Amino acid sequence: MSTLPPSLRWDPAGPALVLLDQTKLPGQEVFLTLTDPAEVIEAIKALRVRGAPAIGLAAAWGLVLAVHRTPGADRQSLDNGFASWYALLLESRPTAVNLRWALERQASVWKALSPSASRAVSLQTLTAEAARLHAEDEAVCLQLGENGLTLLKAGSGVLTHCNAGAIATARWGTALAPLHLGQERGFDFKVWVDETRPLLQGARLTAWELGRSGVDATLICDNMAASVMAAGKVNAVVVGCDRVAANGDVANKIGTLGLAVLAQHFGIPFYVFAPTSTLDLTTANGGAIPIEERKATEVTSLFGSAPTAPADTKVFNPAFDVTPAALVTAIVTEKGILRAPYETALRQVLLG
Ligand code: MRU
Repeated sequence: MSTLPPSLRWDPAGPALVLLDQTKLPGQEVFLTLTDPAEVIEAIKALRVRGAPAIGLAAAWGLVLAVHRTPGADRQSLDNGFASWYALLLESRPTAVNLRWALERQASVWKALSPSASRAVSLQTLTAEAARLHAEDEAVCLQLGENGLTLLKAGSGVLTHCNAGAIATARWGTALAPLHLGQERGFDFKVWVDETRPLLQGARLTAWELGRSGVDATLICDNMAASVMAAGKVNAVVVGCDRVAANGDVANKIGTLGLAVLAQHFGIPFYVFAPTSTLDLTTANGGAIPIEERKATEVTSLFGSAPTAPADTKVFNPAFDVTPAALVTAIVTEKGILRAPYETALRQVLLG
């Protein structure tokens, strides 16, 4: 774990947000120095920074850059700059609710500023809140790891999808946090990593991340999961998520639903890891979660180069799917492990 670079960090000297460009992995470790909120938006849309918690953190830092870039020192100009970049950042990706959550945290400290707050004080306030969000995410992910470890037996086979790892968060990851922690504590997990078509977050990012951490990880194509499960090699499935609706339905990377159906068939527990920033009581159920659709070329070619289908092929490319609550064995949060009925458990964990 210690050998992994942080996926994002703030450089006060810039000021700049320094991002690990995840589109370049695993071939190159390229760090981007972003000084403009428009660059942050581009990085979120292009998946240079990705994974629900990391998207939220990037947006929170993006607002700091926005105010740095806003001309004028009077309250009205600062408020206008904040509001217009807030709206643009909010629409950069639709499914991960952490984006809205992190922006709302910034909006609440912004609204609490006194009408006479100077530009410097306004910036200090936003910077401090972004740093707090960053530190909180690291602590939350560590706790997700501790909670997750109580569900997984040493030596067991664990299958994961996409990348819900350290590079998708401030540190540790969500679903991968127990695997990183387990590695440090000798749990000797055998991890099966789904390739995760079409953008290969499993192959490019999770295999890289777990490899760097020394975890015993084996890469499979998505269509191999059933046969690996049938062979008795999977004792648990662990996935992250982009939004959990009030009834416990879970949006996560496309392909998650298929794994949940398979897990139920084979009697394998299916665990979803969700920091409470991913829980959304304002969305009643999975049908109301906005699902991002991405461009056809992600499916018809390998990263814009070698074609994998005729260029004019009709394509459907949803980036996420919804797993019904009934297929989820438990939702692991930093505040505890939730079990059905999720409607009640989610309200309790968020509202007390
Ligand atoms: O499109 P991506 O790569 O941002 O999708 C990421 C996922 O689906 C992750 O599983 C989810 O955001 C959880 S990350 C801790």
